[in-house]
Amino acid sequence: MLLLYAMQAEADPFIEVLGLERRESCWHPFRVYSGRDYEGHELTVMTSGIDEFYSVDNVATQNAAVMAAMGIKTYQPHVVINAGTAGGFKACGAKIGEVFIGNNFVYHDRRIPIPGFSSFGIGGFQFSPPAEFCSEFRKAVITTGNSLDITANERRVLMELAKGYVVVKEMEATAIAEMCFQARVPLIAIKAITDLVDGERCSQDEFMQNLQLASHSLQGAVACALRHISNGLVRQITQARNHWLVDVILALFAEK
Ligand code: ADE
Repeated sequence: MLLLYAMQAEADPFIEVLGLERRESCWHPFRVYSGRDYEGHELTVMTSGIDEFYSVDNVATQNAAVMAAMGIKTYQPHVVINAGTAGGFKACGAKIGEVFIGNNFVYHDRRIPIPGFSSFGIGGFQFSPPAEFCSEFRKAVITTGNSLDITANERRVLMELAKGYVVVKEMEATAIAEMCFQARVPLIAIKAITDLVDGERCSQDEFMQNLQLASHSLQGAVACALRHISNGLVRQITQARNHWLVDVILALFAEK
């Protein structure tokens, strides 16, 4: 199995607790670790690595998609896990440190108003874990974009979406879902909340304050997912394109 993390701080608690060892990388900026999980199954962890000029983590969709594609091709996993942090919505009752499991994956910043391309831009990948899978965590629509902040129009759309769905916002999962869907490899996305998109504080301050706390929640949730994977539940994860959700989001963007 292959675990993908965008930020080193998100991955470190897991790497340390399992005593994973750093390996030679399959693609220079990414970091690769391997070892065994709590029950002795082999696993590989990749992080997006550090930008050599700015010395910060290679976050966002470009590195996430390349990491997923390179990782799938190189390590041939039977399942991919994307673990990371995300912004939650007070409107959905999200709390800092709460963990969500993604079941639908969309982009909120890819608007291409040409017939056919507009739906493609939203994505709409569905990976449905069975009901028993980590049942203590809520299932959510994960919406991905390349910015930590959000435009007024994106906020309006996501706030409307959050009235009918549990939504979390982050910067990698849909790009990874797109690669997993193309490769027909099941995906489990686990996201711990660092900030509230519709809260009073600005996301970057709240994110920095809660990154460590959320990364520890994440490690517990990944441990839970690994137990379920070794129980065989991963074979029941179904993959599809969710046109219906894509249409809901396009309709919200069309409203002014
Ligand atoms: N990661 C953590 N919080 C986020 C937010 N509000 N938006 C995008 N990515 C995030």
